[in-house]
Amino acid sequence: MIGQNELSPLLSAPLLSVQALHVAFSGQEAVRGVSFAIAPGETLGLVGESGSGKSATSLALLRLLPPSAAISGSVAFARADGVTEDLLGLPEEAMRRHRGRSIAMIFQEPMTALNPVMKIGRQIAEALLAHAPRTPGREVRERVLAAMREVALPDPERRMDDYPHQFSGGQRQRIVIAMALINKPRLLIADEPTTALDVTVQAQILALLKKLKSEHKLSMLFISHDLAVVAQVADRVAVMRQGEIVEQGSVRQVLTRPQHAYTRGLLASAPTMRTPRDRPLATMVRAGI
Ligand SMILES: Nc1ncnc2c1ncn2[C@@H]1O[C@H](COP(=O)(O)OP(=O)(O)OP(=O)(O)O)[C@@H](O)[C@H]1O
Ligand SMILES: [Mg+2]
Repeated sequence: MIGQNELSPLLSAPLLSVQALHVAFSGQEAVRGVSFAIAPGETLGLVGESGSGKSATSLALLRLLPPSAAISGSVAFARADGVTEDLLGLPEEAMRRHRGRSIAMIFQEPMTALNPVMKIGRQIAEALLAHAPRTPGREVRERVLAAMREVALPDPERRMDDYPHQFSGGQRQRIVIAMALINKPRLLIADEPTTALDVTVQAQILALLKKLKSEHKLSMLFISHDLAVVAQVADRVAVMRQGEIVEQGSVRQVLTRPQHAYTRGLLASAPTMRTPRDRPLATMVRAGI
C-alpha cells in the first residue's frame, strides 16, 4: 500500500482539492456532491453531456455564479507560499486576487472575453495591469509581445494594434489564451475552449494547450462534452452525469476499461458525432493509447 501511495501525486499535495461540492439554482441541484483533485502540473479532463453540471462546477470554484446559486462543500487551493485556502470561504477581495492571476479561465467563445473596440495588445496589457498595476510601460510591452509569441500569433509588433474582428476564430482564442497566461497562473480552467472552432483549428489549439502545459508545468481543468477531445490533453478524466461524477481515472483506464455504461456511451458516440470518418479506436489512437 505504501508503494501505491508513493506513485500517486494526488496523495502528496494537490494544487486543487474539491470536496462534496453542491450547487443549486432555485432549489434545483445542478451539482450534487462532486469531489476531485488536481496535482501540480496535471490536467484533469471533465467530460459529460450538455447540462451535466460541468460549467456550474468550474464557475463555482471561482465563485463566478450568480448570487442566486447556493454553493456548499470545500475548494482547497494551495497558494504559491504553500498555504492552503478554502476558496468558498474567502472574502470577495481575496478571491478577486486569485481570479485571473493564480487561477485563469478561458471559455468557449473568445469574443465574449474580448472587447470588440479595443486593440488586442491593449487588452492583453490590461490583463497584466489588473494584477500588477505598477509594471513599467516598456516591460508591459515586452510581456505582451512575449505572450503573443508564446501562443504563436503572427507578426506581434504589427498585429498588437489590430482589433479582435481582424483575427480568425482560432487566433482570437490564442489572444484569450495569451491574456490568461500573462499573469503566469498556476491553474488554468478551460471550459470547452475548442468547441466553437472547426476541427482543424480545434486540433491546433489543443496542440498549443499541450505545449503550454508541458513548458510551464501548468495545471489544468479541461472541460468538454467530447471525450475524444479531452483524451488528447488530459492526464486523468472525470465523467459527469446529472450533477455527479460517475467515474474517474487515468485517460487510459477510462478509455480502455470504462466502468460505467454512460462512459461507454460517450466513447461510442464521440467519434460518430464529432469526427464522422473515425472509428471508435481512433479515440484511443489520438490519446496515444
Ligand atoms: N445561472 C443559472 N441559473 C439557473 N440554472 C442554471 C444556471 N447555470 C446552469 N444552470 C442549470 O444547471 C445545470 C447544469 O448546467 P451547466 O451549464 O453546468 O451544464 P454543462 O455541463 O456545462 O453543459 P454544456 O455542455 O451545455 O455547457 C443545467 O440544468 C442548467 O440549466
Ligand atoms: Mg458548459
